[in-house]
Amino acid sequence: MKINSNYSNLKDSYLFSTIAKKVNEYKAANPDADIIRLGIGDVTLPLPKVCVEAMEKASAEMGVKETFKGYGEEQGYGFLRTAVAKYYTNRNVVLSDDEIFISDGAKSDLGNILDVFSVDNTVLIPDPVYPVYVDTNVMAGRNIVFMNGNEENGFLPMPQADVKADIIYLCSPNNPTGAVYNKAQLKEWVDYANRNDAVILFDAAYEAFIMDDTLPKSIYEIEGARTCAIEFCSFSKKAGFTGTRCGYTVVPKELVREGVALNKMWLRRQTTKFNGVPYIVQRGAEAVFTEEGYKQTQENIEYYLGNAKIIAATLDELGIKYFGGKNSPYIWLKCPDNMKSWDFFDMLLTKINVVGTPGQGFGENGEGFFRLTAFGSRENVIKAMERFKNLFA
Ligand code: MLT
Repeated sequence: MKINSNYSNLKDSYLFSTIAKKVNEYKAANPDADIIRLGIGDVTLPLPKVCVEAMEKASAEMGVKETFKGYGEEQGYGFLRTAVAKYYTNRNVVLSDDEIFISDGAKSDLGNILDVFSVDNTVLIPDPVYPVYVDTNVMAGRNIVFMNGNEENGFLPMPQADVKADIIYLCSPNNPTGAVYNKAQLKEWVDYANRNDAVILFDAAYEAFIMDDTLPKSIYEIEGARTCAIEFCSFSKKAGFTGTRCGYTVVPKELVREGVALNKMWLRRQTTKFNGVPYIVQRGAEAVFTEEGYKQTQENIEYYLGNAKIIAATLDELGIKYFGGKNSPYIWLKCPDNMKSWDFFDMLLTKINVVGTPGQGFGENGEGFFRLTAFGSRENVIKAMERFKNLFA
C-alpha cells in the first residue's frame, strides 16, 4: 500500500487554517483582546433579501409532494444555467447553457478541473497568488513554473516567449494583490495560449468588484478565448454565498485538445464524481440575476468597496504603499520598514489586534507585502484604521 507521497511536498497546513490557528491561540491567551479580522476574504453582510426569499420558497417546495426534488442534474438546474448565460450577454459574451456547470464554489472546481489534464503537463502559476492553484498541483505532482508578479509589473505578469507551459492560471481581479488585467493584456495571454496549445484557467471570482467598464470581467470578452480558456466564478463574494456555497465553471465547446472536447470530459467528470448543488441554494443563486437581486448585491459590493476606500485613504495618509483596493476587495500593502510579512502579521496581531494575511503565504514574491480585505464591517474597518494611525503615525 502506498500513499500519495506528493502530499509531503505541501506546507504543513493550508494558509488560512494556519492563520486561524495563530489567531485562536492568541485569543485564548488574551481573552479580552478585541480582535478585528481582515484576514480571510470572508463576507460579513448577510445574504441579499431576494436570495433568502427565494430559498425560503424553494425550501417550502421541498416539503410538498408535487414540488419535491430528489437528485438534480449534476451540472446544475436549467433555470440557473440560463440565468448565468443571460448575465454574460451584458458583456456581449454568448454562452450556451451546456457550457455552464454549476458547482459548490470556485475553489472546488479549480482543484477538480485538474482531473481532465495529464500530470505530465507543466503548469504556469503567478507568484504571488491564491494558494489553491499551487497546492492542488503539488498534490498531483505536476511540474510548476512560477511567473513573477512584482512592483515593476504591477503584479500583472505577462507571457514570455521562452517559457513553455500547458496550463496557465490567471486570476483577475487578483487574489491577493487586487491587480486587474486590461483587455490588451488578456489578449496577449489568449494569443500565447492558442499559439502554444495551452489552456488558461481563469479565476473570475472577484469580477463583480470591477467598476471600471473598460476592464474585462470575463476572459470571453477577449477574442480567441473560447479555444483556450476555462472560466471559474462564484457567488461567494458577489452575493455573500461563502457559507451557502454556489459557483459555476464555463467550458466552451470549441476548447479541444488532442481531438477531445474538454466540455465533454468535464461533464463526464462531474456526472461521475458530483451530485450537484442543493435545489434550494440554486434557487437562491438564481435570484441574484433578477433586477432586484442585481440592486441588492450591488449595494453590498459598494459597501465593501467603500471599506476599501477607507483603508486606501488611511494608507495614503500614512505614506504606506499599496496596490489594489479599487476594482477589488483586496488591498495589498508594502510592509513598512522592510518588515517580513509574518513579522508584520505578528506585530499587527499583538500590538493593535488586527488580523491580515502575510504576503509570503501567497508565494515568495509576496514576502514584504501584506493583504487586508475590505469584507469587514464598516465599524470594524474604521476602528482598525484608527489603530493603524496610532501605530504608524
Ligand atoms: C481568501 O481569503 O483568499 C479567500 O477567501 C479564499 C477563498 O475564497 O477560498
